[in-house]
Amino acid sequence: MPGWGVLLALAFGGFITWTVAISACIVLFIIMAALVLSRLADFDRVITYANELLSNPGAAAPILETSETAQRLLAILMALRHLWADRRDAADDLAKTRQEILDSLPDPFFLLDRQRRVVGANASARQLFELERGSNLAGRDLAGVIRDPKVLEAADAALLHNRRTEAMFTLPAPVERTFGALIVPLSKITADGTGLIIALHDQTERMKMDRMRADFVANASHELRTPLASVLGFIETLQGPAKDDEEAREKFLDIMLKQANRMTRLIDDLLSLSRIELREHTRPTDAVDINVLLRNTIELLDRQIKERHATVTLDVAPGIPTALGESGELSQVFHNLLSNAVKYGGEAGRVEVSVTVSDVRPPAMPGRGACIKISVRDFGEGIAREHIPRLTERFYRVDTARSRTLGGTGLGLAIVKHILARHRGALVIESDVGKGATFTVYLPPTT
Ligand SMILES: Nc1ncnc2c1ncn2[C@@H]1O[C@H](COP(=O)(O)OP(=O)(O)O)[C@@H](O)[C@H]1O
Ligand SMILES: [Mg+2]
Repeated sequence: MPGWGVLLALAFGGFITWTVAISACIVLFIIMAALVLSRLADFDRVITYANELLSNPGAAAPILETSETAQRLLAILMALRHLWADRRDAADDLAKTRQEILDSLPDPFFLLDRQRRVVGANASARQLFELERGSNLAGRDLAGVIRDPKVLEAADAALLHNRRTEAMFTLPAPVERTFGALIVPLSKITADGTGLIIALHDQTERMKMDRMRADFVANASHELRTPLASVLGFIETLQGPAKDDEEAREKFLDIMLKQANRMTRLIDDLLSLSRIELREHTRPTDAVDINVLLRNTIELLDRQIKERHATVTLDVAPGIPTALGESGELSQVFHNLLSNAVKYGGEAGRVEVSVTVSDVRPPAMPGRGACIKISVRDFGEGIAREHIPRLTERFYRVDTARSRTLGGTGLGLAIVKHILARHRGALVIESDVGKGATFTVYLPPTT
């Protein structure tokens, strides 16, 4: 521009002819145009170069020869490319970590978009719904995964009102399980479209425990109420109609004593069960001589054995190691098993107790190596196969009336089971109806 101004001024002043001035202007214009075009071509090359690099982010960047200005532009583009690559790597790492965190959660977890379609799931969810990694879970409507209408309604409500909702549902197969679903809408939709999360929590065990607790309280109350009602009834009779009946008084007082003893036994058993449960997670540490323990226990049962005219034999193999346990609790185990064998082994029954070392542990016993095996065998009427797995449940009895008549509380084997769990031992029950029953206790040795 200043060049053209000077030429025009010289032409006006008559220092050069107009022809020369105009020709010089044209030459100047051509030079400028050539310069601008060469710069533009430079920028064009930079743009093509940048395009190629951006569409191929991993590739190395070759050197590009350009003018200094284009080089500066190129430097800015390259810096942006680096920044973008770093951000992309960070985003990839974040996505991987997020999946790792989700997979480490034991509870099933789903990520959904706002149209209720699955965006992602953790390993536990895939396993629960039998979906292999990589199977086409993404994009499925929630109804294609969890069919329960309660969950679908809760998910819709969470999306509609933008608030967390909850629902319970049951999966029938392979084993019936009840889950609680917590459904939470996210305040911001993430880059992958996640706008809603569903966390499942297996409630089967808790519900079972709740039911067991309620059943236990109902059973315990019932067991106590029956003798109590009988005692109260006899007191009323003794205060009223049988007031002066000497013979009835003797008879009724005898029954009342039996009922009161029954209540005492029940309360003792309930207390010992709760004490054992409290200590169940601390292992006993004493070295117990099983031979001595069994002899003492048999002696304690002497009266009951004589009353039933039973015979108890004890056969201890040589070299039995001491058991790792607590003698008070182990004595309770064998007291219960021996008293059952004497009670249910029939009048004048034979009870055989044997102690050996077993090289293999039963599947129910934790740990490895040899263990002490104590079998209590009777030759009574035995137990039908269907009852065996339930015998260690509290208050479970094959014949409630018979157990009560024989002074049972229905808690003996439950106590045995809990004590053995604390000792990391095991109880195995075998029986043939009509031929008797064998209750075998496995205990870990010391050392
Ligand atoms: N040796 C046995 N022979 C047959 N049945 C038995 C024997 N031991 C236990 N049972 C059955 O298991 C049930 C539960 O035993 P237990 O828990 O000791 O309660 P209880 O003896 O107070 O009834 C008994 O009621 C009885 O039906
Ligand atoms: Mg018993």
